[in-house]
Amino acid sequence: MFTVVVCVGSSCYVRGSEKLAETFERLIRERGLDSRVELTGAFCMEQCSMGVSVRIGEQTFRCMDPGDAESFFDQQVMPYLTAVS
Ligand code: FES
Repeated sequence: MFTVVVCVGSSCYVRGSEKLAETFERLIRERGLDSRVELTGAFCMEQCSMGVSVRIGEQTFRCMDPGDAESFFDQQVMPYLTAVS
């Protein structure tokens, strides 16, 4: 089990963190990853400059377009999941 943390601080919220988290939640459920990925939120990760901050394991990423959250999930979350399994 590893944790994906979506920033819900004010800057990231304005940039669409709620939509991003909803999409992640749906993808985790649809792909049967519930037992392997825990989705949670956190307040400001102090990297507010661009996009929505997402922490996966020890790394922090920025999702520039929460409307394209599925691509971000495929490109950032899935490889990490594969690498740690
Ligand atoms: S509000 Fe998300 S990193 Fe600051």
